[in-house]
Amino acid sequence: MAATPHKDAWSSRLGVILAVAGSAVGLGNFLRFPGLAAQYGGGAFMIAYFIALLLIGIPIGWVEWSLGREGGRRGFHSTAGIFHVLLGRPWARYLGVIGFFTPVVIYMYYVYVEAWCLGYALNALIGGLSVEGKDYGAFFAQFTGAGADGVALRFSLRDVGIFVLIVYTLNFFFIYRGISRGIEQVCKFAMPALILIAMIILVRVLTLGTPDPARPDHNVLGGLGYMWNPGDVAQGLKNPELWLAAAGQIFFSLSVGFGVIITYASYLTSRDDVVLSGLTASAANEFCEVGLGGMITVPAAFMFLGAAGIVGQGTFGLGFNVLPEVFARMPGGHVFASIFFILLFLAAITSSLSMLQPGIAFLEEGLGIGRRASVALLGFVTAIGTMFVWYFSKDLKALDTMDFWVGTLMLFVQATILVVIFAWGIGIERGWQLMHAGAEMQVPRIYKFILKFVTPSFLLGVFVMWLLKNVAGWNFSFTDPAFAPSGYVGDLIGDEPSWVARLTVAFIVIVTSFALLLINIAGKRWEAIAPSGSNSSLT
Ligand code: ALA
Repeated sequence: MAATPHKDAWSSRLGVILAVAGSAVGLGNFLRFPGLAAQYGGGAFMIAYFIALLLIGIPIGWVEWSLGREGGRRGFHSTAGIFHVLLGRPWARYLGVIGFFTPVVIYMYYVYVEAWCLGYALNALIGGLSVEGKDYGAFFAQFTGAGADGVALRFSLRDVGIFVLIVYTLNFFFIYRGISRGIEQVCKFAMPALILIAMIILVRVLTLGTPDPARPDHNVLGGLGYMWNPGDVAQGLKNPELWLAAAGQIFFSLSVGFGVIITYASYLTSRDDVVLSGLTASAANEFCEVGLGGMITVPAAFMFLGAAGIVGQGTFGLGFNVLPEVFARMPGGHVFASIFFILLFLAAITSSLSMLQPGIAFLEEGLGIGRRASVALLGFVTAIGTMFVWYFSKDLKALDTMDFWVGTLMLFVQATILVVIFAWGIGIERGWQLMHAGAEMQVPRIYKFILKFVTPSFLLGVFVMWLLKNVAGWNFSFTDPAFAPSGYVGDLIGDEPSWVARLTVAFIVIVTSFALLLINIAGKRWEAIAPSGSNSSLT
């Protein structure tokens, strides 16, 4: 017996692949990736990035696809429900709490950035993206609220407010329509559209030649070189921060560890392939990230502003400060700026929709409520979080704090839980069978070893480095070691704590407690449907 009151499913194989790729391709591909690759010097970063792709990204993706499809076959679609039915232990469902609150919390701030993209797309055409035609930073500070708390809570076309309301309405409208009539339809339109737009912008960027004849070295090749030249690879690979950044980017970009892929895969039928589909969705993400994202943002900025215009710009600085100035210097630049931000908006909405579905799935099957009630409840909870980020916008502190504690750290924890359950809890032999049921290709057998030993060790290594850097505050120097809790931990317990950061973490704790409470309630319902201990066939 299924836990959900009604049945939802993908209408085609292409639909589910586009939906998973849509979840993966997002702001991370066009803003975060180019910023990181440029910051760490193309070559060394790309080596760590591809190692992380092969050792954690693709294999944990397969794990999520396999566990999700099996959980769906047994009537569950949320991570908590799937762990409950697959592990058959009363505690198992609580392990699924991360797969419930992580996408919900990430949605709260991700959708706020999505609203910037829509607002920038329109403002590029109607009023420009600067204050008085020259100050791009001032426009950004005012529009996003990065200048001061509370200033972004306004509703003219030159403010973010209206766009927050629009993107909220769109997201909840499509999620209400369900898997095939909502998410799948949006992705079938948005994915080809965004690839087409990215191609147009790519051609524009690669044909810019030498935009300023007075600075001949600021040309296309220089821009591509700045992004992709290997630099000192050996030295770069010795930097643990580079490994942390590369692994974190793989998770964020592939939407692995979010709790999204496991939920999406649960709407497959038991005969559907997951191996080739998972690989195809990952390949589509890598094409958009490396092939498109990596060729547009940084090279374009370099051609007009040189290295000095890029260095030190964070993810948002590059996209929302530097690029508007770059576009303004191109012929017809306002049109290119507008379509660039439409591209970001399309990439973002297919991702934000995917962050809502795990929450909807849990509310429906955990509380036994219908679509209307689950959409209303999730809308209410996420709106509180978005209001929080929207109000505490100075230096984007609340957003940044959520992105770190949930959008980075929790992804590592969730991915580790998934791979340990798959390779050790269920057992690699049984897991391998699950993965290959209906498969249209065979995963190389070396991945049995990788999933069992290498992936967990790699994750552990990265996590220990993270602790050393952020909690112990070690600068990773043996010759001149220094220890001080860095940024995010320092914000909470350092000498000069940030009250907004503390409030944000308190908010995350409240959301997590609420999620645990709901799982407790859901557990009583599930015990009646699929009692713990009744699943020995699997384990
Ligand atoms: N995977 C999504 C992105 O890259 C969240 O933005």
